[in-house]
Amino acid sequence: MVEHPIHPVVVHFPIALLFTAVFFEILGFLLRREQYRQFGFWLLILGFLSGLVAAGFGLWGEAAAVKMGVPEKAIERHESFAVSTLITFGLLLIYRRWARDRWSSHRKTIYISAAVAGLLLLGTTGYFGGELVYEYGAGVSKTAPGRSGSSEATPPAAKSDRD
Ligand code: HEM
Repeated sequence: MVEHPIHPVVVHFPIALLFTAVFFEILGFLLRREQYRQFGFWLLILGFLSGLVAAGFGLWGEAAAVKMGVPEKAIERHESFAVSTLITFGLLLIYRRWARDRWSSHRKTIYISAAVAGLLLLGTTGYFGGELVYEYGAGVSKTAPGRSGSSEATPPAAKSDRD
């Protein structure tokens, strides 16, 4: 049994890879550089796959978070955004493969708009994931300084943050 939560270790991969993928795709379109777009495409594949892995570990850690008293509603909100993000990037990959090198300006607009929407969903997923940890204490030890039930005093910095 792994004691350390894996989800927070892997979530950085989809976030970094998908943001960089879209950056290179857009740069490739703007500068008409096929190599940039190819690079963006591979990052998109890696980002999507790492997103699936992150989601798998998220689902695995869900029960532990509920047991710690994290509101299920907050977990479900994060989960819904994660699933919507993965669906968006999954469809984007299919569209990208289908369009190949037949890029009309209409198709480019659809593709870039969907990619930017995917990034907004991804950012929101990360935001609500962070909320689970920093607002509701998911995965945070009960004995951590500042947590109720901790024998240690609340550090002054943490106290002033909450005031
Ligand atoms: C694209 C997929 C996902 C991304 C990018 C993502 C992102 C994140 C982030 C950034 C955090 C905060 C980690 C920290 O600051 O320590 C987090 C926490 C969390 N996420 Fe996700 N998440 C994803 C999918 C899921 C799914 C499908 C679930 C299933 C319910 C889930 C459940 C959780 C839980 C329970 C936590 C708090 C405890 C922990 O960190 O393990 N996540 N997530």
